[in-house]
Amino acid sequence: MSTNLSANELFNVNGMVAVITGGGTGIGLMMAKALAANGAHRIYIVGRRPDVLHSAAKSINPETVIPLPGDVTSRESLLSIAKHVETETGYIDLLICNAGIMGPKPLKAAPGCAAPSVAEYAAHALETPMADFTNTYAVNNTAVYYTALSFLTLLDAGNSRKTAHADVRSQIITTSSIGGFSRLPGASFAYNSSKAAVTHMTKMLATAFVPYGIRCNVLAPGIFPSELAMGIIGSLEKGPNGEVDRSVVPEGKTGKEEDIAGAVLWMAGRAGGYLNGSVVVVDGGRLGMLASTY
Ligand SMILES: NC(=O)c1ccc[n+]([C@@H]2O[C@H](COP(=O)([O-])OP(=O)(O)OC[C@H]3O[C@@H](n4cnc5c(N)ncnc54)[C@H](OP(=O)(O)O)[C@@H]3O)[C@@H](O)[C@H]2O)c1
Repeated sequence: MSTNLSANELFNVNGMVAVITGGGTGIGLMMAKALAANGAHRIYIVGRRPDVLHSAAKSINPETVIPLPGDVTSRESLLSIAKHVETETGYIDLLICNAGIMGPKPLKAAPGCAAPSVAEYAAHALETPMADFTNTYAVNNTAVYYTALSFLTLLDAGNSRKTAHADVRSQIITTSSIGGFSRLPGASFAYNSSKAAVTHMTKMLATAFVPYGIRCNVLAPGIFPSELAMGIIGSLEKGPNGEVDRSVVPEGKTGKEEDIAGAVLWMAGRAGGYLNGSVVVVDGGRLGMLASTY
């Protein structure tokens, strides 16, 4: 039997150098743990809070996981992070543009109460500063573009090191969301539309980067525990063991770190080497329960 088909061959990320924005918490941290547990050489984690990054690195392996404080909405910050990585390793194999924020939400009826009046609904929305809405795009979409571009030559350098035909080519994964497909009333217009934008932009990047041999794929998670999702998870009705109603999530639970780990190892490892311009939905079936478009 061919050893090329063993799970160890297909899903390891041996020797890989990765950068994960938003890698100090939530889904990014789950990804960092998965890459570290499966042979990655270096995982640079980016975020604005140095203390959060340092404790994340310490909790995994401070020799493999390197904190890089920075702000993805600042081009100067991105270029200085990329310069740091260039000086240390000279290349990367994987860039995960994962940093994101929720943004403002519209007014929604409290459970069991009547919907707000049209005047209340409009007033609430109009009181929200336009800058809050736009900032959601700055982090969730514009910053992804500038992050990708800041690391493009390092991803190219990663490709130059690959010799075997079977080696997986350098890749950018963006963390979008099933929110990018959902029309759920009460969800953040800024967030969901920014995620629709980043999903489409990633497909465009996949096509644009064909001449450079750099692949781009989208991960669209459902509901996972994190700072960002705390409000959503808190508002779900749960059973005594944390079960979620199957009308909300058909798998009857919110996502776990192994669900993200499995997806990221598939996408990053040899098993995912044929993915390019793809959208990977990991949501326990949640999207099928929403008014949505795909
Ligand atoms: N959890 C879910 O249910 C869910 C579902 C679908 C998609 N997602 C997506 O998953 C990604 C990760 O979110 P999460 O749920 O894991 O929430 P999270 O724990 O709040 O993670 C967001 C991360 O982004 C970083 N970040 C935010 N603004 C930044 C900036 N300007 N510069 C650098 N880093 C920044 C944060 O670090 P600092 O604050 O220290 O900068 C934080 O580490 C997001 O793109 C989110 O939209 C989450």
